[in-house]
Amino acid sequence: MKIIITKDYQELSEKAAEIIIDLVKNNPSCTLGLATGSSPIGLYKNLIKAYEDGVISFKDVKSYNLDEYCELPKQHRESYYSFMHANLFDHIDIKEENTHLPSSEGSDLQANCKAYNKMLNSTVVDLQLLGIGANGHIGFNEPGTPFKNETSVIKLTDKTREDNKRFFDGDINQVPKYAITMGIKNILNAKSILLVANGKNKAEAIAKLVSGEVTEDLPASALNLHDNVTIIVDEEAASLIEK
Ligand code: GLP
Repeated sequence: MKIIITKDYQELSEKAAEIIIDLVKNNPSCTLGLATGSSPIGLYKNLIKAYEDGVISFKDVKSYNLDEYCELPKQHRESYYSFMHANLFDHIDIKEENTHLPSSEGSDLQANCKAYNKMLNSTVVDLQLLGIGANGHIGFNEPGTPFKNETSVIKLTDKTREDNKRFFDGDINQVPKYAITMGIKNILNAKSILLVANGKNKAEAIAKLVSGEVTEDLPASALNLHDNVTIIVDEEAASLIEK
């Protein structure tokens, strides 16, 4: 696992973007696994800038997102579909048909999981981008999720709903209780993994992750089982790493 510590969020976002920009330059038809949450927003801004400056094009890039809330219509402002459009897709030349998110619409969520999983298993993700929850979740794989799990519906923990209520007028009752997420197994199938984390709130999870212990209590610790992982953290998120 390669660990890069940056002085602040801006540097983190630039460094993480550089990795993706290089990948897209070298392989213009690459497949990206994308993430939501506040952590990758700065990185997405840098990707948009690289596109606007003519450094890269996304016209042949394909993307698969990690997860999506249940109980929210696709067009809800806090759906991950809306998030991806607002923070990346609407500002670059990626084709709508090349972007994929799990769907939580319709009455048969199991069928939706199966369909998404089938797509994932018939493609090779060149780089999977990840944030990390304060409790160590990746995607929406909460502590205790078996590493062998593939795409499934999961119940969000109170901690995650509490952390994410900031996007829902600070009201936990508006935060969905369930989500569809790629499983850890899907995530580990990617050729390379890039995790970004900033702020003190993430310091404990990052320290546990880099300690090397592999445990289902900390979903992100599964990354220790992959041989091409880069984590980029700012000084605050790195502050509890044992020297
Ligand atoms: C959500 C997402 C994760 C994300 C995490 C951290 O729960 N499902 O993919 O990594 O939150 O979010 P943030 O970056 O806003 O701290």
